[in-house]
Amino acid sequence: MTITQPDLSVFETVESEVRSYCRSWPTVFDRAQGSRMTDEDGHIYLDFFAGAGSLNYGHNNPVLKRALIDYIERDGVTHGLDMSTTAKRAFLESFQNIVLRPRDLPYKVMFPGPTGTNAVEAALKLARKVKGRESIVSFTNAFHGMSLGSLAVTGNAFKRAGAGIPLVHGTPMPFDHYLNGTTPDFLWFERLLEDSGSGLNKPAAVIVETVQGEGGINVARPEWLRELRALCDRQDMLLIVDDIQMGCGRTGAFFSFEESGIVPDIVTVSKSISGYGLPLALTLFKPELDLWEPGEHNGTFRGNNPAFVTAAATLDTYWADGQMEKQTLARGEIVESHLKAIAEEHPEAVVEYRGRGLVWGLEFHDKSLANKIAKRAFDLGLLIETSGPESEVVKLLPALTTTPEELDEGLRILARAVRDRV
Ligand SMILES: Cc1ncc(COP(=O)(O)O)c(C=O)c1O
Repeated sequence: MTITQPDLSVFETVESEVRSYCRSWPTVFDRAQGSRMTDEDGHIYLDFFAGAGSLNYGHNNPVLKRALIDYIERDGVTHGLDMSTTAKRAFLESFQNIVLRPRDLPYKVMFPGPTGTNAVEAALKLARKVKGRESIVSFTNAFHGMSLGSLAVTGNAFKRAGAGIPLVHGTPMPFDHYLNGTTPDFLWFERLLEDSGSGLNKPAAVIVETVQGEGGINVARPEWLRELRALCDRQDMLLIVDDIQMGCGRTGAFFSFEESGIVPDIVTVSKSISGYGLPLALTLFKPELDLWEPGEHNGTFRGNNPAFVTAAATLDTYWADGQMEKQTLARGEIVESHLKAIAEEHPEAVVEYRGRGLVWGLEFHDKSLANKIAKRAFDLGLLIETSGPESEVVKLLPALTTTPEELDEGLRILARAVRDRV
């Protein structure tokens, strides 16, 4: 594709140096539909990034757009803090009937602020309040958000350094596959818990992602998650699953922990819960943990009513039957077969490919390669990002509604980008 130089001057002079994705994709996007984004010069890009997992149903999904336009046109409430509204009622009813009840999950629903890190902060605060203990255990390469509490349970050294103050009350433990594969799971963790000389304060909770999205697409085995659940029960710790990136069907089932059969005490959900890319976050917890006093945790932007409208439409449209899960697993197999072919073509360069549902990673020995491949893919018309502590993994996160033809097209571009850069 011929790229004319876009006018980036106002971004470069006015916007802060902190900006990042726009540096990887130096163009000015204008429109987006389904799995395609179009820049102001009319170049079309296939999007395998999906708003970092916030656009599981594609850009400007027509069903959700219709529901939103109808709501706005009839002057439905846009802002209402946590007032009861018809939009919130419709969302809670759909969430209860379509998501919670069929899965036998008894959770209460809390609306913290509208972002993922708000949901994590509320989860950590509640766990500490319930257990009366300050310490939280997290895992190596975890990512839970940028506010100070979430950052304290996040692994990445660069992101942690940005805090500028000590990040306390969090202790990292090895995630699945972190050690040599022969050490029994949780040996170190349980030994520390049982030894009063270990220096580990008894934790209130453990927070975990079932697949670490930012940490490099590290997939926890179902048996590892089950063992973690059992350990939390034995040691009187709450289990928090952060499903902000891997929930809402990304791995197949609505919640990413369903495959393992565990029931977490607290679950955080955000990103694709509104279905439309509108900010909305939920902290879910077992009813007996609902020890909040009215107003003890609040925030101006909790009840995002337009997001409730698209969220309810998303659940009614995509989750009322079991089709979405089956489709995601089938489309995941398409991605897996392409990645297998790429790995077989470049055995000396590729460490491995890994993933579940429609989240996949391709790791390279040369840690600088993934960024070069993502850049080349952009030149060829594909948006993909990298993840892992040294950005050594090419990360594929297409919308769940990406068609098999679009998956083939994007993966052929990826294969060419790998060939051009290895
Ligand atoms: C697992 C996980 N938790 C929390 C967050 C933070 O969400 P937000 O950026 O909306 O604050 C993210 C964002 O990528 C995430 O992937």
